Amino acid sequence: MRPLLELKGITFSYPGGEPVLKGIDFRLDFGEKVGLWGHNGAGKTTLFHVIMGLERPSAGEILFEGRPVAGRKDLMALRRKVGFLFQDADDQLFCPTLLEDVTFGPLNLGLSSTEARDKAMATLDLLGIANLADRPPYSLSGGQKKLGAIATILAMDPIALILDEPTGGLDEDACALLERLLVATGTAILVASHDKAFIEKVAFKGYPLSDGRLLNLPRDGQQALPKGA
Ligand SMILES: Nc1ncnc2c1ncn2[C@@H]1O[C@H](COP(=O)(O)OP(=O)(O)OP(=O)(O)O)[C@@H](O)[C@H]1O
Ligand SMILES: [Mg+2]
Repeated sequence: MRPLLELKGITFSYPGGEPVLKGIDFRLDFGEKVGLWGHNGAGKTTLFHVIMGLERPSAGEILFEGRPVAGRKDLMALRRKVGFLFQDADDQLFCPTLLEDVTFGPLNLGLSSTEARDKAMATLDLLGIANLADRPPYSLSGGQKKLGAIATILAMDPIALILDEPTGGLDEDACALLERLLVATGTAILVASHDKAFIEKVAFKGYPLSDGRLLNLPRDGQQALPKGA
């Protein structure tokens, strides 16, 4: 089957720094759910930023739906279909109210203002935070912001979710809710988390990122997530 997302030999360094990513090969199929873990500074966020075109690799190629992501048009197509959750929710929320933030994506996808608002309200409701719709994001707690940021991407009905530490700051109930949503969805997921138990529940398999490389790359036969690794 044609992969949804494919990385070939992705290499990246920040200016003047050592390479953070050293020839990453990776493939995410439609509906596949993959976890990623690694110590602080391993390069998880950097890898996600490269995939989303927020950083440019010095070498390698990214393919989305079988086509190279070469120019702005390809990147815009990827961003329309892939919901990216920033590690820091403050990077995701920039409107005067949470509702406007969550409405922004559906509006961009061409929904009418009423449809977009309904979609946003339904998504906030799904996440149990409809009561926060009119609040300015800066006034929300850390966990509330995280849920709000998750709402902004779910409201776009993406075909893939790239989630950078989605449980950071969430309480037990919110974690369980998110877990249920991610297990139930048919959307492809690439999730980085220090919460191994969460990854084990949500993902079919996982890769450690270490020394700029993805380790134990299974392709067929599906590596089981290492219990307690
Ligand atoms: N804007 C930047 N400029 C220079 N170096 C950076 C920048 N952002 C990250 N780095 C460095 O790149 C490396 C990878 O950072 P990255 O944020 O990708 O790690 P991470 O695996 O997401 O870590 P964490 O688990 O703490 O979120 C680190 O050594 C970090 O200090
Ligand atoms: Mg990170």
